[in-house]
Amino acid sequence: MIIDGKKIAGELRDKIKSDIKKLPNNNKPGLTVILIGEHPASQIYVRNKEKFANEVGINSIVLRFDESISEEDLKNEIKKLNNDSNVHGILVQLPLPKHINQKDIIQTIDPVKDVDGFHPINVGNLSSGNDAMVPCTPLGCYYLIKKVIPNLSGLNAVVIGRSNINGKPMAQLLLKENCTVTIVHSKTKNIEEICKNGDIVIAAVGKAKMVKSDWVKDTAIIIDVGINRIEINGKNKIVGDVDFDDIQDKVKGISPVPGGVGPMTIACLLENTLKAYKKISKRI
Ligand SMILES: NC(=O)c1ccc[n+]([C@@H]2O[C@H](COP(=O)([O-])OP(=O)(O)OC[C@H]3O[C@@H](n4cnc5c(N)ncnc54)[C@H](OP(=O)(O)O)[C@@H]3O)[C@@H](O)[C@H]2O)c1
Repeated sequence: MIIDGKKIAGELRDKIKSDIKKLPNNNKPGLTVILIGEHPASQIYVRNKEKFANEVGINSIVLRFDESISEEDLKNEIKKLNNDSNVHGILVQLPLPKHINQKDIIQTIDPVKDVDGFHPINVGNLSSGNDAMVPCTPLGCYYLIKKVIPNLSGLNAVVIGRSNINGKPMAQLLLKENCTVTIVHSKTKNIEEICKNGDIVIAAVGKAKMVKSDWVKDTAIIIDVGINRIEINGKNKIVGDVDFDDIQDKVKGISPVPGGVGPMTIACLLENTLKAYKKISKRI
């Protein structure tokens, strides 16, 4: 079975759109994305985020800054947004130029407005099992998994990759669902053997077609987070971390790339913005 992220993301966006329509006084959540420099992939991501935000009724603004912006000036821009009552979600598009300290920038964002869920307060709340702003990509993966298997309790989940934006929060979400979670990474021995034990395997690595059919069991659900640009027969193609053609007929379910996790990430950003709006409205 192909887990159709495009369709599931569309359903989530419809729900967000209808929830926004019900807000009192025709109020709309506001999302501001900060984009620095001309990073080509970032330009595409930000354009898509803006398009879908506007479609569901979120006021989306993109603030563009030159690559040369200083860390202090960037922090001051974020502080202005923290204090702006029309802005409910703030997202700083990564990666940042080398002269800017990413950790310090993330910590400048008001945790309530941190729709990426990268602020240490949100990271801590997620790992403590408290209400948190959850990073959009793992949240999207979680929704895809829950769509196929509503009750995850007792299942073995293998997360490949331990990044702060993907692997670690993914593992936290699955632990909360009573999965037995194993995280593997570049220093792990016998990855194939560990993956074979997974009822759920999430690949968030950044290595094209790394996961093969003999790594997984027939009943597994595979979620592919990877986005890798490769050349096939002289054409540029985007592929995941999983060898889709090799695996798709073997397993119970697999999310494709593109059309799997990508659209869910954006839909979850919109959901987080609405969540931030609701929290801020209660606070005022
Ligand atoms: N679909 C989406 O919306 C979305 C969003 C974000 C990212 N992505 C994609 O997801 C992928 C991962 O992104 P990321 O930011 O999490 O990457 P990252 O920060 O580079 O982390 C990659 C992780 O993979 C591990 N790894 C590297 N080589 C490995 C190997 N041979 N075997 C096992 N583990 C290995 C690394 O281990 P170490 O920790 O030991 O180095 C690290 O933990 C990328 O392709 C990225 O483009 C997609």
